Amino acid sequence: MTSLKLKNYKHKLTGEITVPGDKSISHRSVMFGSVAHGETIVSNFLPGDDCLSTISCFRKLGVSIHEENDGLRIIGKGFEGLTEPNEILDVGNSGTTIRLLMGILAGRPFFSSIIGDHSIGKRPMTRVTEPLSSMGARIDGRKNAMYTPISIRGGKLNAIEYQLPVASAQVKSAIILAGLQAEGETVILQPAQTRDHTERMIRQFGGEIVTEDRFIKVKGGQKLKAATIHVPGDISSAAFFLAAGATVPESSIVLKNVGLNPTRTGMIEVMKQMGAELEIREYENGSFEPAGDIYIKSSVLKGTIIEGDMIPALIDEIPIIALMAAQADGPTVIRNAEELKVKETNRIDTVVHELQKLGAAIEATDDGMIIHGKSKLRGGTVSSHGDHRIGMMLAIASLLCEGEVILEQPEAISVSYPNFFTHLNQLLSQ
Ligand code: S3P
Repeated sequence: MTSLKLKNYKHKLTGEITVPGDKSISHRSVMFGSVAHGETIVSNFLPGDDCLSTISCFRKLGVSIHEENDGLRIIGKGFEGLTEPNEILDVGNSGTTIRLLMGILAGRPFFSSIIGDHSIGKRPMTRVTEPLSSMGARIDGRKNAMYTPISIRGGKLNAIEYQLPVASAQVKSAIILAGLQAEGETVILQPAQTRDHTERMIRQFGGEIVTEDRFIKVKGGQKLKAATIHVPGDISSAAFFLAAGATVPESSIVLKNVGLNPTRTGMIEVMKQMGAELEIREYENGSFEPAGDIYIKSSVLKGTIIEGDMIPALIDEIPIIALMAAQADGPTVIRNAEELKVKETNRIDTVVHELQKLGAAIEATDDGMIIHGKSKLRGGTVSSHGDHRIGMMLAIASLLCEGEVILEQPEAISVSYPNFFTHLNQLLSQ
């Protein structure tokens, strides 16, 4: 196990960075490029470990994917061009890969087996295996197809009408991907709006999908055409520097080309609510995914309440929001966020436990956490627990700690932000 010494107490952040490509959109560009017909070109692809797992799985399914310049060239041959893999498909740490992949494999008339790492082995898959089985796929796995290893024998699918039991873009997307291969029209009802990258990408690949309020309708048998995809920067990666810019005294930074899809910008809304001094300059280039530059300065923050339909738009940002709340005046309450328990780690436990070690006044609740306002942070030894977002949150926390911070398992960060420390050092260098 590796560890990293961090000590930059209250060293201001200045200058600008361009955060790397969006993880969710990068995954989908590989998947849609693979099942469309023709040559798809992807630029600003995120070369993080999770997205590399997606590439590796689709190569094993017979797709030619070339890594070129800062992107990919994918030779798609349609859903029907995928072939039975000789090897086990390994998704590593990636929940998006396994869940969306199952949606694609559900309609393919061959056998595959899927594994992942220790964390994936603890994450619930029934939320996907159940609806896909009801569409006609034969799926098995440990504990009644709840956990990996999972095996799928796909084939002819029928459309379903399905009410999602959880607000999950991964589950929604798996059903949409199966629905594209099914006979008839699949209708999905979401309990709250979740990230809509799959829906946007289907249209980009020449497909049709109807979205009305929380209903989604997609017809089976559509032929998707290759596309050119420019991946915007990941707002979930930008989040760490947004929080650092707002909380470290005398900071002033610019984050360039950040994805601004409104289903992902919950953290910006929360920061405004907390009093953060930030400015957004959105690009007017008509891209299928909006993007822009964000200017952020150190700010006086106040506590807030985060709950209900806001949660899916900032679910991945809650670890770093918790740190920001530990630098704000007054309490912050986060509720209705029980989904945090089934992320790469149980993020209610890991956030609360690790921030308590640094001296934050924070407590866990059944469905979220309460942060009791500004606390003096000291140093200490903390761990990412193998969770990239916990690792980055703790690295940012070290900027606010009086003592030295030792971060264990920092390598997890490469899952979504391989050059995180390069960017951090760049912003600290002036
Ligand atoms: C993702 C959806 C979210 C998010 C994950 C990526 C996606 O998960 O937490 O990091 O790319 O669809 P859920 O949809 O399961 O909430």
